[in-house]
Amino acid sequence: MKRILLILCAVSALAVFGAPAEGKKPSALVVFYSWSDAGNTRVLARMIAEKTGADLEELVMEKPYPRVYRQVLAQGRKDLEKDLPVPLKKLKKIPADYTTVFVGTPIWFATYAPPVRTFLRENDLSGRKVYFFCTHGRGGPGRFFADARKLCPRALPGKDFSCYGTHIKKVGPQVDSWIKENVK
Ligand SMILES: Cc1cc2nc3c(=O)[nH]c(=O)nc-3n(C[C@H](O)[C@H](O)[C@H](O)COP(=O)(O)O)c2cc1C
Repeated sequence: MKRILLILCAVSALAVFGAPAEGKKPSALVVFYSWSDAGNTRVLARMIAEKTGADLEELVMEKPYPRVYRQVLAQGRKDLEKDLPVPLKKLKKIPADYTTVFVGTPIWFATYAPPVRTFLRENDLSGRKVYFFCTHGRGGPGRFFADARKLCPRALPGKDFSCYGTHIKKVGPQVDSWIKENVK
């Protein structure tokens, strides 16, 4: 009886949240944005994809941010503070096809970089296991994890991961244990 009830719950949860595309194996996608020449978040995203066998999707802006640090600071701050639209190029992968989605960003002004905000607003991750990850400077992850979860309230929360951008080359073992202990 208990088993039947559990099955019924699972079936209705899928009906509510929307099941991943039929015929697809349970699978994972790593979505990320990265701005700096060092590409810290890109390096971390690739590491996660390689270690978990996930697909990879880099967020590309319709109109990329300037490469000059002072200019990106000004524009990024404005986009966040005034909540301006930051359109993205069409994604190559369909996030809803995946049962697990990793979403990564460099920390900007103590939260996500605006392209990641666009991604979370435009893609319904309800019922998907979502792991957030970020690279940051001296300010740490700030409000990012909380802000990001607000944009996908019906996603199933996974344990988040953060690291200093400057530590990216030696973070492999930490990523290994995060995946081993938390990513099912
Ligand atoms: C516009 C901008 C804002 C930033 N704001 C913060 C911040 O608030 N806190 C912090 O710790 N680091 C901040 N950083 C540093 C980046 O989060 C850090 O260098 C990150 O590893 C860069 O990742 P990327 O190489 O993928 O772009 C900022 C960087 C930029 C360009």
